[in-house]
Amino acid sequence: MLEVKALDKSYSSSTIPFRKKSTKVLENISFRINKHETLCIVGESGCGKTTLAKCLVNLEKPDNGRIILEGRDVTFPDRKTLSFLHTKVQMIFQNADTSLNPRHLIYDSLAEPLRLQCQNEDNVRKRVLQLLNHVGLSEEHLHRYPHQLSGGQNQRIAIARSIALHPDLLIADEITAALDVSVQAQILQLLKTLKKEMDMTLLFISHDLALVKRIADRVAVMQEGKIVEINDTNEVFHNPQSPYTKQLISSMSKLSLNNHDLK
Ligand SMILES: Nc1ncnc2c1ncn2[C@@H]1O[C@H](COP(=O)(O)OP(=O)(O)OP(=O)(O)O)[C@@H](O)[C@H]1O
Ligand SMILES: [Mg+2]
Repeated sequence: MLEVKALDKSYSSSTIPFRKKSTKVLENISFRINKHETLCIVGESGCGKTTLAKCLVNLEKPDNGRIILEGRDVTFPDRKTLSFLHTKVQMIFQNADTSLNPRHLIYDSLAEPLRLQCQNEDNVRKRVLQLLNHVGLSEEHLHRYPHQLSGGQNQRIAIARSIALHPDLLIADEITAALDVSVQAQILQLLKTLKKEMDMTLLFISHDLALVKRIADRVAVMQEGKIVEINDTNEVFHNPQSPYTKQLISSMSKLSLNNHDLK
């Protein structure tokens, strides 16, 4: 479905001319995501997970490398390729409060991507209600602003918005990080159900190994901008190869792993 080849990305760490020092944030990242699988990316804060996801949806430009989506090069997309990319791939961000427009009613946030498809307003309204239903919310939430919903409800809206146009690949970046454990579990279950119902592929980014263990088919472990290990979930958890993965796994208490072990 998606293949990433030797991706590099640097950020300039100073705005002073002639003193620009660039810091490598992604280095030689290569992996692929197979159709219908859930690939999880784990790694400590600042290792480049969000930057990688942003490169995949063209919110950041890589310095080098290639991103191939269903056989089509989408690394530096022209308008037509960008629209192909956006119909195929959607991303849900770390913090729903900032990804939803605070001045838009929930109805408009959900209607916006549908209107872009030139649907008439009756159809838009029907689809918005359908989407709400999909994510377990009701009509009463439609005429509120994001600040009038809970964090978990906002994250449901962000999920509804991301699936509005039936993407094939959904990228979820730390979407449960700001939620309490019981709401985390609900959102995770929702994502699993939607993935199955809509035949989607999932790239799930998290630093929470216990969550990853529950949801991943394969796991990629990142450290300082590099993928140090990528393998089936069982292998990564029970037979980790890289010293960094071993350290991550051992630092996670056995108790918490077993508590979360619902897969
Ligand atoms: N726009 C930017 N300009 C300069 N540096 C940036 C920019 N965005 C991110 N960085 C730096 O790139 C590195 C990777 O950031 P990134 O957000 O990808 O990490 P992350 O793995 O998603 O972390 P977290 O788990 O905390 O979300 C960090 O050191 C960050 O400071
Ligand atoms: Mg991040």
